[in-house]
Amino acid sequence: MKIVIGSDHAGYHLKGAIIDVVKELGHEIVDVGTDSPDSVDYADFGLQAAEMVANKEADRGIVICGTGIGMSISANKVKGIRCALVHDLFTAKATREHNDTNVLAMGERVIGPGLAQEIAKTWLTTEFEGGRHERRIMKVMNYEDGTYHV
Ligand code: RB5
Repeated sequence: MKIVIGSDHAGYHLKGAIIDVVKELGHEIVDVGTDSPDSVDYADFGLQAAEMVANKEADRGIVICGTGIGMSISANKVKGIRCALVHDLFTAKATREHNDTNVLAMGERVIGPGLAQEIAKTWLTTEFEGGRHERRIMKVMNYEDGTYHV
């Protein structure tokens, strides 16, 4: 798969560790930055990575900031994106099986590089289960495009 990755300054070091593991799995990486630990705004990188997934320029995205929260909020503002903030292996697996998430967010100030690499591996190798989960996702996506109302 083609994986786009982005971080702010607070996720810059973890981004390097995640790039290593994604490459080991044989995927192609597109790194949209940031390219140093100098202070930047997470929205610029989270939105850019999410747009590439939404526009099908990448198959999936991984976004990293200090907490992962700013990145997940930003990515989920892009139409077509289902971004999960994940800091444990159970959720990494479940969010692929149940939510078919296309962007993964993590926080460098929350977990260490070893766990983050395992989360990325699990998230990249777990398939969506479909079935009843498809119906639930479609309600959310159709709400986004205005064709489903509650
Ligand atoms: C940067 O200091 C920090 O606020 C950012 O990386 C992120 O954690 C925001 O959600």
